Amino acid sequence: KRKIILDCDPGHDDAVAIMLAAKSPQIDLLGITVVAGNQTLEKTTANALNVCQYLGLDIPVYAGCGQPMIRDKQVIADDIHGETGLDGPVFAPLRKKAEDKHAVLYIIDTLMASDGDITLVPTGPLTNIAMAIRLEPRILPKIREIVLMGGCYQLGNVTPAAEFNILADADAAHVVFTCNRPITMVGLDVTRKVLCYPSVIERMEKIGTPPAMLFVDLMLFFGKSQKAVFGWEGGPLHDPLTIAYLIDPAVLTTKAMFTEIDIRSVQSYGRTNCDFFGYFKREPNSNVAVEVDVEKFWDIIEQGIRNYG
Ligand code: BDR
Ligand code: CA
Repeated sequence: KRKIILDCDPGHDDAVAIMLAAKSPQIDLLGITVVAGNQTLEKTTANALNVCQYLGLDIPVYAGCGQPMIRDKQVIADDIHGETGLDGPVFAPLRKKAEDKHAVLYIIDTLMASDGDITLVPTGPLTNIAMAIRLEPRILPKIREIVLMGGCYQLGNVTPAAEFNILADADAAHVVFTCNRPITMVGLDVTRKVLCYPSVIERMEKIGTPPAMLFVDLMLFFGKSQKAVFGWEGGPLHDPLTIAYLIDPAVLTTKAMFTEIDIRSVQSYGRTNCDFFGYFKREPNSNVAVEVDVEKFWDIIEQGIRNYG
């Protein structure tokens, strides 16, 4: 079993990542840490708790950073995820509570007490991870791998250059991409290929269980807002692709590249400059996803929902 900490900002696709990670036999989801991103920290934390409560998951949830490391303004993605950050499903009153410990301290303590076998899976801005690295650098050798959703070597989704998670806290991304630990970058280049078309929603709806219904409610809203903003027929299920990759690495093809975060430019701020062709002749610091097996991904999602019985 692969031990992971999921660091997320739910978010429709983050919610599906939680659903997939929590019951997959290949994954041991130790804890969920939350960061501001798709919405404010208060809202993303409530969303993570709501998803866990709805799915009956006894997994600890830790609230983390509510602001980027350096830039003053928190960018949110309410155009895609709505006022709550998880518009669409209607949840029962929330009883599950976040743990008292700060997410950054939970990440540090858990890594320090480990045998170096924990993988960090960030699917939101990288603030919590970068803060943990800066606060306690001794965690670095303890990190097995960082498998993150973020960036792109092609086109961005917030500006032509930048992807949301990286742009929202580019300084944090810079800390992570210079930390000298193995990084797998699952960026828009592949996540934009797993579009949740109405046919996929129908396929999952047939499973007929509460988790399947949550998936349907999430994807109906997500699909609508994605269509309004980008024009696609289905929502790209970005975040769960990280978990799918940990369940079955064959779902992605990766290429080793040297990646640098643009933290200086005006126009291209927050870009992941991936040296695809190796112009700089620098030692690669990331395995960047370049291909995805779309059929395999939907099979993994279906199985993930069926794992709830
Ligand atoms: C990323 O940004 C968020 O809106 C999604 O949850 C995903 O993590 C895609 O750019
Ligand atoms: Ca996310």
